[in-house]
Amino acid sequence: MNMYEIIEEKKLSKNLSKEEIDYFIKGYTNGEIPDYQVSALLMAIYFNGLNTEETYYLTDAMVNSGDRIDLSAIDGIKVDKHSTGGVGDTTTLVVGPLVASCGVPFAKMSGRGLGHTGGTIDKLESIPGMNIDLSIAEFIENANAIKIAICGQTGDITPADKKLYALRDATATVDNVSLISSSILSKKIAVGADALILDVKTGSGAFMKTLEEARELSKMMVDLGHKFNRKTVALITNMDEPLGYAVGNALEVIEAINTLRGEGPRDLIELCLNLSSKLLVLSGKFNSEIEARKLLNENISAGLGLEKFKEFVSMQGGDISYINDLSKFELSSIKREIYSNSEGYVKKIDALEIGEVSKNLGAGRETKDSSIDLGAGILLNKKIDDFVKVGDLLATVYTEKESEIERAKNTILSAYKIGEENKDEYKLVLDEI
Ligand code: URA
Ligand code: CA
Repeated sequence: MNMYEIIEEKKLSKNLSKEEIDYFIKGYTNGEIPDYQVSALLMAIYFNGLNTEETYYLTDAMVNSGDRIDLSAIDGIKVDKHSTGGVGDTTTLVVGPLVASCGVPFAKMSGRGLGHTGGTIDKLESIPGMNIDLSIAEFIENANAIKIAICGQTGDITPADKKLYALRDATATVDNVSLISSSILSKKIAVGADALILDVKTGSGAFMKTLEEARELSKMMVDLGHKFNRKTVALITNMDEPLGYAVGNALEVIEAINTLRGEGPRDLIELCLNLSSKLLVLSGKFNSEIEARKLLNENISAGLGLEKFKEFVSMQGGDISYINDLSKFELSSIKREIYSNSEGYVKKIDALEIGEVSKNLGAGRETKDSSIDLGAGILLNKKIDDFVKVGDLLATVYTEKESEIERAKNTILSAYKIGEENKDEYKLVLDEI
């Protein structure tokens, strides 16, 4: 077996065997197969695809390329959630404490933001003192003690994915269903919660621009989850506007805390209740989402979700005086308001453009190693279906970069599509797979 033959086969649209896929992943991970051959194979896969079986072999090979973390020492059915990358998507910080407040362990390894999408680990770091570098022992201990632990990736999990993802990024082969599915699921399987909910975003801010593509990706990921014996559900959700009003790191933490207080944006609350109730059913805690929702709403009203959030922050070394007094969060020093220059209904707010602006204001990274400004970002003031007049406040931007403000203003004005009232009501959850 050699790499040339494998490339040739996929070029001719033949199916690859488990042995061939193992050979390629092993050889690439240990440096024996060069980037140029893997690039050629990725492009052949991009055009000719992998079937479900090949995608399973690829995922399995990626899981086995590095460490696996055994969470069986955490009592109960562990649950996890994963979003395929949204803008202003602070759901983990709401869903985690809410689910934990119902007694179901939420154990999640999260990532940092890259490109126009944010990451939970960066957001958490806007709480002073917060330690996201837990050892595996601490991660398990915390999840047992208070039912919630969130940390960055520890150990050498799926090194094959790290190399492949960087190569895909440089060879225009990211947006393929099998490659995305194996990348996401391999990380989830290696870490090992029992039940997983996938929030698959569709719309301008997402990898999958259409509902059909999002369905295809969801089916593949749910199939894979089942093949690895994980309870897996995918929700396809709309990214025709950012989620909630806040986009940025400290800004989104504040929004999450307000949501746990029962004072969050309607769309964010709705998505969090949706994801949380499905996780509670997957965990076996409830038979129906309606019952699950009832307890979730009670826990919000009684402040138990917020209490759990404080417990979590405190357990990981964070300063909870910030949670008690949100004015302590330091936002960037330059604050500028952006006003509408047209009148009508908000039809759409391009999430990709808003994510890009937020990144350029300092909230995101150009490359993996850039530093970020945790106080930077955008606070939207109008959402889809709101009526705006000329001169109404559309958004407020926070930054330390005066030079970015003019561009931010122009991009935000163009991201807001204002016109006739939308005929159909904005649907946040589009499908469940
Ligand atoms: N997120 C991942 O982890 N991998 C992909 O391929 C796409 C999104
Ligand atoms: Ca938000």
